[in-house]
Amino acid sequence: MCGIIGYIGKREAAPLLLEGLKRLEYRGYDSAGMALVHQGKLTAFRSEGKLSKLENKIGAKTPQGTIGIGHTRWATHGKPSEKNAHPHISKRVAIVHNGIIENYLELKKLLPHKGRELKSETDSEIVCHLMDAYVAKEENFLLALDQVLKCLEGTYALVIMDLKDPKHLYVAKKASPIVIGFGKHECFVASDIPAFLAHTNQITFLENDEIAVLSEESVDFYSKELKKIEKPIKEIAWTADMAEKGGYKHFMLKEIMEQPTAIRDTLLGRINKNKNQIHFPEIEKIFKGRFPNFNRFYMVACGTSWHAALAGRYYMEAIAKIPVSVDTASEFRYREPFIDKKTLLLVISQSGETADTLACVAMAREHGAKVISICNVIDSSIPRLSHATLYTNAGPEIGVASTKAFTTQLAVLLMLALSFGARKKSIDQRYLKKAIDGLSKLPRVMENLLKEKEKILKIAQKFVNSRDFYFIARGIHFPIALEGALKLKEISYVHAEGYAAGEMKHGPIALLEHNTPVVALAPKDRVCEKMISNIQEVKARGASVFIVASEGDKRFEKQNDEVFYVPDSLWYLTPLLISLPLQLLAYFVADLRGAEVDQPRNLAKSVTVE
Ligand code: F6R
Repeated sequence: MCGIIGYIGKREAAPLLLEGLKRLEYRGYDSAGMALVHQGKLTAFRSEGKLSKLENKIGAKTPQGTIGIGHTRWATHGKPSEKNAHPHISKRVAIVHNGIIENYLELKKLLPHKGRELKSETDSEIVCHLMDAYVAKEENFLLALDQVLKCLEGTYALVIMDLKDPKHLYVAKKASPIVIGFGKHECFVASDIPAFLAHTNQITFLENDEIAVLSEESVDFYSKELKKIEKPIKEIAWTADMAEKGGYKHFMLKEIMEQPTAIRDTLLGRINKNKNQIHFPEIEKIFKGRFPNFNRFYMVACGTSWHAALAGRYYMEAIAKIPVSVDTASEFRYREPFIDKKTLLLVISQSGETADTLACVAMAREHGAKVISICNVIDSSIPRLSHATLYTNAGPEIGVASTKAFTTQLAVLLMLALSFGARKKSIDQRYLKKAIDGLSKLPRVMENLLKEKEKILKIAQKFVNSRDFYFIARGIHFPIALEGALKLKEISYVHAEGYAAGEMKHGPIALLEHNTPVVALAPKDRVCEKMISNIQEVKARGASVFIVASEGDKRFEKQNDEVFYVPDSLWYLTPLLISLPLQLLAYFVADLRGAEVDQPRNLAKSVTVE
């Protein structure tokens, strides 16, 4: 959470910092700030609220300086306010911080008080004062930074400016993500790649306990022991346009509409129609052509990615005939699960930075387990700690509500189950061929379905003022119902719950009132008849139902309910199709209610704190 950016080069830093902050705003948006040095003089601006408020404060007179740092905040310690906004400044030092300094209260006691009174309620400001105090003693900025880092407990990505030396920017990392971008006669540092993607696609992620010192022409990297180290520079295939709205009102809508392309890119190179094969070269070094005898198989994730894992369990059980247990990362890491060398952990994360998921990976590795991750952000922390990563190739996802990451995660999970199934011979070549055909056609089917988005707008208009929504489904569509409810509540602030349809009468049905919307997922599958009974039950209690059904299913005609039809597909492809109207419903309800779709209150895109 929190977005940080730094620039050093030949250009004016302020517009680059603002542009970077705009692209990082999805990580936090309760206050923002920036600081620059020009001719030995520091200029700093901070403001409560969104970035636009900071821009208003700066006004037309952009501050000068070719070195600077910026921050957009998601509050943890200290409420959103101007005084708690970053950068924090103490005499010679200005810092921006992402993470949590857990021992900040103890560190406060170490500070020589005179002239160093804390001005904010944050945990971050202490780092700034400590730095200034140490540099006053040490003179060498890097050695002082090393001393300070040794005092810190918790997590951090820090970008630090020495106001006496405008030729260097200092960067340190523990747990919170930070990436360096290499331009021509300039360097960037940021919490995430899109912040500087318009200027360079040459990147290096910093690892835990490493330090980087940036100058215009080069970057020096140091290990924990302050030894100089070499780090490779990678070129990332994302383009700047991918991180733009492309004419859409919101990133979320753009990302919903991008799903056919995202799925196409995710299938690319993995399904081979001619050879009737699904191939993940990334995991060959673990599987060596077979599915080894793991004693235990866990899938772990958070939020939307957890919903993908729940759906993935249906794929693994029904297609690959592999038992798997699924857990939320925040529970798994504290549950003392059985993990040893014969355990396979599959983690799912769009950002690759979610703190709880990352902790599960570290825990599993400590116990000797094999870890495979499904991630979207290339080279982020989780892939770097995994034995192998299957990337979702969805491109940058900026909208806080996850959409294209979710369906591409489903596609990878499905392909993985099919490839495991083929190895274990739990499915035959005909089954595989049908699946490969279906997957190849999926992007086009999705494209056609998305053309019907106006129908969902009408349904959203009907339900826009409803207070509570219930999403019900059975089988593999149950996690899709959970996801539909999560999408709606997180961006529109309407109360929404997902339930296994068979559970309604064990309690939740008591909540139904006249016209309470119930979204029922009832595609033609082996539990459709049961869904129809559940729909009758909720209607009998006054619910107003919106049914997502399979094209050609006449049973829902003449019922006076809202029905949206998705093409009748193979059971394992239907969840990807049904996700689209649910995402659109959430989007339109939120937009009609005037909510901030891309930046819902209290949320941030990457949850890098527990
Ligand atoms: C909801 C959403 C979150 C994330 C969750 C995990 O729309 O985006 O629930 O799914 O924070 O994030 P990742 O997948 O980055 O680990």
